[in-house]
Amino acid sequence: MDTHQLISNMMLRNFYSVMVITTTCVSVVVFPVISNAAGAPKKKSAPAILVFGDSIVDPGNNNHVATIVKCDFPPYGRDFVGAKPTGRFCNGKVPSDFAANILGLKELVPAYLDPTLTLQDLATGVSFASGGSGYDPLTARIVSVLSLSDQVELFKEYLNKIRQGMGEEAAATIISQSAYLICVGSDDIANTYFSTPTRRLHYDINAYTDLMARYASTFYEELYRIGARRIGVLSLPPIGCLPSQRTSGGGPNRSCSNSSNQAAQLFNSKLSAVLDSLSKTHPDALFVYLDVYNRLTSIIHNPIRYGFEVVVKGCCGTGTIEASILCTSVSDSHTCKDASKYLFWDSYHPSEKGYGILSDMVINEFAARFM
Ligand SMILES: *[C@@H]1O[C@H](CO)[C@@H](O)[C@H](O)[C@H]1NC(C)=O
Ligand SMILES: *[C@@H]1O[C@H](CO)[C@@H](O)[C@H](O)[C@H]1NC(C)=O
Repeated sequence: MDTHQLISNMMLRNFYSVMVITTTCVSVVVFPVISNAAGAPKKKSAPAILVFGDSIVDPGNNNHVATIVKCDFPPYGRDFVGAKPTGRFCNGKVPSDFAANILGLKELVPAYLDPTLTLQDLATGVSFASGGSGYDPLTARIVSVLSLSDQVELFKEYLNKIRQGMGEEAAATIISQSAYLICVGSDDIANTYFSTPTRRLHYDINAYTDLMARYASTFYEELYRIGARRIGVLSLPPIGCLPSQRTSGGGPNRSCSNSSNQAAQLFNSKLSAVLDSLSKTHPDALFVYLDVYNRLTSIIHNPIRYGFEVVVKGCCGTGTIEASILCTSVSDSHTCKDASKYLFWDSYHPSEKGYGILSDMVINEFAARFM
């Protein structure tokens, strides 16, 4: 399927899902990365970075998809180069950007669906991620965004362009030596499981996280089959401590929602087992579980140590519910002046500073496995 077919299929799907989704704003969750802004990029350790997942690592693919899960408007991008809202669900850079810098590749990872990409852009890495996506294919369908299968189709199309532009040998190096970064799964739990009845009617949380883990295993097997060998997977964050989940499930004091945190921990243990099992089956490849859960929890418990003043609300609007289309310049009068004091930019996504700190921890751990 080529990009245009894929997009027109998605537009059809969106037509239906807009009818279904009324108020749920879509959330994407966050994985932080640390800003090694000051440090010079390290020695180039991989030819490219290839990214799959959800809003945490979507640099603007959803700008080109017919969905309400978007953020290509102010105040998103407020602290980005040129104060530009690029479609990143953040005030600035996102973890895929920090990762490319840490790997010595480039400052920013572009969206694969950006029509202006050059061969050089492709050859050093792109993101196929789509805000609102999940391991569970239903998650992307509910909000009409790119599922992981759609992202794999785009990846195959990408590889054809690389083969045509650079030849078989260069393409083979890119496929096997690139760093593959995956960040997805929070929306399955926060949106699909806890916010819609479809799955909860048929699955308890144990069965639902089993379903997620099965889809995860299939997805990582598929990447391996295509030729990926260096695969780093971000764990789920403490979903119950995201500002929106404190609001919806944290009681009058907006404490962390225990049910969401327990669900995230349960899935993380299954994800870790899936990756261990794949490592045993395929000893010629790295499948690395990268712990975001405990690191983000530690930042939430020790904000001052990391330079944050506010960790229970996002910067945008009231900070308690706004994300995506609810975080607009209309809510700007409430929006904080200095996002660097906030761990979260909106009610779902970390700020650039939060992402920078987390990325430093997580991506360095991943890179150390193959550098
Ligand atoms: C979550 O669990 C902790 C410890 O079990 C408890 O103190 C807290 O009140 C619970 N929070 C909510 C929102 O139920
Ligand atoms: C909320 O916080 C107040 C003041 O710290 C405390 O007295 C109260 O027990 C808390 N309520 C809940 C439901 O945790």
